[in-house]
Amino acid sequence: MSDHHLESPADLDKALATAVSNQLSAAIDARGSATLVVSGGSTPKGLFALLSDVPLNWEQVTVLLADERWVPTDHQDSNERMVRERLLQGRAQGARFVSLVPHYPDQAASLKVVKQQLTEMPTFDVVILGMGGDSHTASLFPCSTEVTEGLTTTEPALVTHPKTAPHARVSLSRRRLSDTRYGCVHIVGADKLDVINNAQQADALEQAPIAAFLPPNDAFEVWYAPK
Ligand code: 6PG
Repeated sequence: MSDHHLESPADLDKALATAVSNQLSAAIDARGSATLVVSGGSTPKGLFALLSDVPLNWEQVTVLLADERWVPTDHQDSNERMVRERLLQGRAQGARFVSLVPHYPDQAASLKVVKQQLTEMPTFDVVILGMGGDSHTASLFPCSTEVTEGLTTTEPALVTHPKTAPHARVSLSRRRLSDTRYGCVHIVGADKLDVINNAQQADALEQAPIAAFLPPNDAFEVWYAPK
């Protein structure tokens, strides 16, 4: 695994946008299509603006979220709303987006459809994970009662209930997120880099879910810049 430490968030967004678009372009050349999994939160907003303007065959790209808040897709906290507003614009407007809350507010019906779709999807081409200061990633929160399930289940997705963040969540599982040709962790701020370094020393993955995607458990690359 090679980490990428850039000098500023703007430099980080540019370099990561180039790396992601190269991965997607290679996937389309090799297999005729590509699947991109992105995270919500605030960190990726600059990256999404750059990616939306990349000259790719976006019609061959499927985009989905690593996790979603259990809210309507027009809610201010909806990751889907943020992705539609910031990524699926301009050249990227033609991408196919797969919602994690297709039958909101019917959670059981939504989860059934999402699990089926995720099961039928091939290996992802790119997964971009964010991370919170508590070392959660996607919605695999150390404070949630479902964290062990999220880290061990063979199911592709689950509902989690973080105690330190708003809303119930739909999260892809560790197993499904790891099924990717390329994975990266996108973080800004020295505090988050400290969390990454400490996470790899944690006694159990439940204490630091991000460690499930880092050596020796997995080989996601860390893309970092100071604030
Ligand atoms: C979410 C995200 C979550 C996010 C981290 C970091 O739904 O909130 O998917 O996992 O990546 O919480 O969020 P920031 O980028 O806002 O720090």
